[in-house]
Amino acid sequence: MNAHHFSNRKVLISGGCGFIGSMLARRLVGMGAQVTLMDSLIPTYGGNLANIADIRDRVWLNISDVRDPHAMSQLIRDQDYLFNLAGQTSHVDSMTDPFTDLEINATAQLSILEAARKLNPRIRIVFASTRQLYGKPQYLPVDERHPVVPVDINGIHKLAGENYHLLYHKVYGIPSSCLRLTNTYGPGMRVKDARQTFLGIWLKLVLTGQRIQVFGEGTQLRDFNYVDDVVEALLLAATRDAAIGEVMNLGSDEVISLKDLAALLVEVNGSGSWELVPFPPERKVIDIGDYYGEWSRARELLGWSPTVPLREGLRRALEYYRVHGAAYWE
Ligand SMILES: NC(=O)c1ccc[n+]([C@@H]2O[C@H](COP(=O)([O-])OP(=O)(O)OC[C@H]3O[C@@H](n4cnc5c(N)ncnc54)[C@H](O)[C@@H]3O)[C@@H](O)[C@H]2O)c1
Repeated sequence: MNAHHFSNRKVLISGGCGFIGSMLARRLVGMGAQVTLMDSLIPTYGGNLANIADIRDRVWLNISDVRDPHAMSQLIRDQDYLFNLAGQTSHVDSMTDPFTDLEINATAQLSILEAARKLNPRIRIVFASTRQLYGKPQYLPVDERHPVVPVDINGIHKLAGENYHLLYHKVYGIPSSCLRLTNTYGPGMRVKDARQTFLGIWLKLVLTGQRIQVFGEGTQLRDFNYVDDVVEALLLAATRDAAIGEVMNLGSDEVISLKDLAALLVEVNGSGSWELVPFPPERKVIDIGDYYGEWSRARELLGWSPTVPLREGLRRALEYYRVHGAAYWE
């Protein structure tokens, strides 16, 4: 990544107080970008001012909601880049409150693109999509040609959000790229519950001396990316012409079962315990079984590959929450 690329460029991050958005902001501030963070800071989502405490005086912070088209128009009109990360991320919540998920993950995405079309069609946009939209894998590893059959409302709406970005590129030439993220973890993630990923609450449980619960047999396979690697992919996607109009999986070759992950987390922490428990019914119906992704397209188009091994990433995450946990537990 050429550190000068973002120097003095105007960058808007929607969901900028969230887990990935705040890490991205830190990198961009370090590269001399003029960074605006917009976030609704709704308590049930991942936004947390503790995530930006160290860069608070070097960014513009705008507390607003992506569902407000007027606020978004004002924010978008003079930016060079938009990292579009604001989202409702809980799969279970999307099933109990589908219309809020629709408003945030689909309708608001359309109004962001409408604002771009009318006011700033040259803005470079990177959209954070998700591997969730593939649903239950029909083969592994899952590549971008895999059928898209979401198993929950969140997957359907993220797919709509992604497709709006691709369509606005094709029809109106708005330069957008979509990354389908897999499970991302690291400092700053929501750990008070499993709304972001189960690994968040596992970090809290292991650090507060409580037992980790692994659903089912614990044999489900997953791949994980450390947040710094995801931030690198987002930055590369914003700077490579080859990425415009494209969809790319992120992923990792380090595939692990959930029970092995629980054991690894306990080992890296130096204490803790885990147990197998039956799947809660509301999770079982939307579980996708085994998943790991094929990410060679991101390597080809972005020159990206993950660099932080799982063991090291877990160590860094644990270290962060050991110091800063109090700002994240409740
Ligand atoms: N973390 C992962 O494992 C993962 C995996 C796949 C996709 N993603 C996607 O990446 C993006 C960022 O995820 P994250 O892990 O940083 O989650 P996060 O919840 O920490 O960040 C999302 C941010 O969006 C904000 N937000 C939510 N609704 C908003 C609204 N209506 N208006 C303004 N801001 C709002 C939240 O306050 C939060 O700060 C999301 O779009 C998510 O779907 C994340």
